[in-house]
Amino acid sequence: MCGIVGYLGPRQPKDVLVSGLRALEYRGYDSSGVAILDQGKLKRVRAQGKLIHLVEKLKNENFDGHLGIGHTRWATHGKPSERNAHPHCVGGISIVHNGIIENYAELKLNLLKGGAVFESETDSELVAHLIHNEVKSTQDLLQAVLKILPLLKGAFSIVTVWEEQPETLVAFKNGPPLIVGFGTDEFVVASDLQAILPYTNKIVYLDDFQVAYIHQSQFQLLDQKGHTLEFQTASIDWNSEQAQKGGFDHYMLKEIFEQPRAVANAILPHLDTEKFCLNLNSLKQSWTGAFKDIDLTQVERVLVVACGTSYYAGMLAKYWIESKVRIPVEVDIASEFRYRNPVLFLKTLTLVISQSGETADTLAALRLVKESGGPILSICNVPNSSIDREAHCRWYMNAGVEIGVASTKAFTATMALLYVFSLALAKIKMKLSSEQEQEAVKAILGMPSHMETVLAFDSFFAEVAHILTAVRGFLYMGRGIHYPIALEGALKLKELAYRHAEGYAAGEMKHGPLALIDSDMLVIMLAASDELYEKTISNLEEAKTRGAKIVSLGTGENEHLKSLSEHYLALPKVYQDLYPLVEVIPLQLLAYHVAVTLGNDVDQPRNLAKSVTVE
Ligand code: AGP
Repeated sequence: MCGIVGYLGPRQPKDVLVSGLRALEYRGYDSSGVAILDQGKLKRVRAQGKLIHLVEKLKNENFDGHLGIGHTRWATHGKPSERNAHPHCVGGISIVHNGIIENYAELKLNLLKGGAVFESETDSELVAHLIHNEVKSTQDLLQAVLKILPLLKGAFSIVTVWEEQPETLVAFKNGPPLIVGFGTDEFVVASDLQAILPYTNKIVYLDDFQVAYIHQSQFQLLDQKGHTLEFQTASIDWNSEQAQKGGFDHYMLKEIFEQPRAVANAILPHLDTEKFCLNLNSLKQSWTGAFKDIDLTQVERVLVVACGTSYYAGMLAKYWIESKVRIPVEVDIASEFRYRNPVLFLKTLTLVISQSGETADTLAALRLVKESGGPILSICNVPNSSIDREAHCRWYMNAGVEIGVASTKAFTATMALLYVFSLALAKIKMKLSSEQEQEAVKAILGMPSHMETVLAFDSFFAEVAHILTAVRGFLYMGRGIHYPIALEGALKLKELAYRHAEGYAAGEMKHGPLALIDSDMLVIMLAASDELYEKTISNLEEAKTRGAKIVSLGTGENEHLKSLSEHYLALPKVYQDLYPLVEVIPLQLLAYHVAVTLGNDVDQPRNLAKSVTVE
């Protein structure tokens, strides 16, 4: 997902913006740019690829001004190119944007009918056009922003400046994070603390639908109707360990917040982000040993073997591969697989999933397959780990080191990889049209932004965790692709809060779990709007009528679901296949905050190890 930096103050904006964008590089990006005031005009410099290319272009540039904005872009609409890089400038207005404008097509059409000329393929550029149109009449940047905000739908955080108001910067947050840093007669606005802390540790986190108005040395916090809001600045006092934890209280929370970037880094090697299609080489060309010249069109079955959270990720592969490739998929717990004398076929492709790459049961399962089975593709987070070394083809979660014993970013990175794998195998076996491919690739590329928006549930669960600690039993339920997420959500609560929790296929209610239901039982229902929604709702109503307390996760503002639930969490509307990537995050946050409230050692839960290298 994208990175944003804005600056107003006495320093050279170029220096502040470049150092800020460097601090945000971890977020994953494919182009970057700045727009800085120079003698009353906004001068824009952009570059495709890594930040070094922008720095090279800026080397001999000087700016006579103290206002600027910068951006690192993760392409979702419009391929990675200098033309599509932010900032976008229209008639003296310049903006940077993180997120997705869902109604951009209709807005863009109206602007084109009004004579607007677009220079890029992005949804972001239309925001600059909208503000430019309004500022002609308002003659004020803030008023122009307030006028266009109601037009926009989706998750979008923006920072904008106008040449005619050279000491004004306006920011708006809805979804992706935006933080304001208060220095001495200077302000730094950024997506992340790391870009701000070199200048100040006094900050305000913007909440959704809040507007930051900075003018000279004044700051105002407003709602989207322009009403002034009270605010408290926070001081970030990081010690060295906290600096390693990125200011988070625990590695696990840091890793939960790193998930958008982890997913972005996991899928990038397997996609062509210029053409929005798959890069098949990472599946066709990267086999070794006996399967160096493998012909994947001959694959007739897929076997998935893993443990714990990795096994739950593997369960999703069954839904995605069987629905797209139309070949059978068997998913097995490694400790069961290795002792049940399995029947192995040469035309079976085995996926071995392991964050650590050292899990004893999973390694033993790999070796069993290797004795008399077919090709093995490993998905690990640790290069050169045992499982990584012994597989025939290696994919990587690229999630960065995962320190928390409870796996989070490795899980979502694995799910994203398995989805891309299912697309690639479908394409190789001629089961995926170009249109389907492009639609699915664009959808998975948009997921980091959607995942960022659900991180906002962190504050909700921090508030309600104390209520949840009193609950006797937790029943997580979902159908279809939501069922593995129900299992993973229950596991997170078990391993962190040491509370009994079960994950169940919602359709199984009548086959036993219904007897568990009473007013002491908390049901967490995954009820995204898909083809199983109606059946899921009837399961939820079965539990409700028997006295269960309900926490439900649904798509958007679902009044009916809200009416049935003690707490309702609105998920962003995403590509139906990909709801698991957003709905697991609130479940991770629930488990984290209940564990913290109970005073448990979140990063090192009792009885558990990060890698189970013994049986
Ligand atoms: C996940 O939160 C647990 N720590 C555990 O289930 C873990 O997923 C399992 O031990 C497998 O580990 P691996 O992915 O490193 O093989």
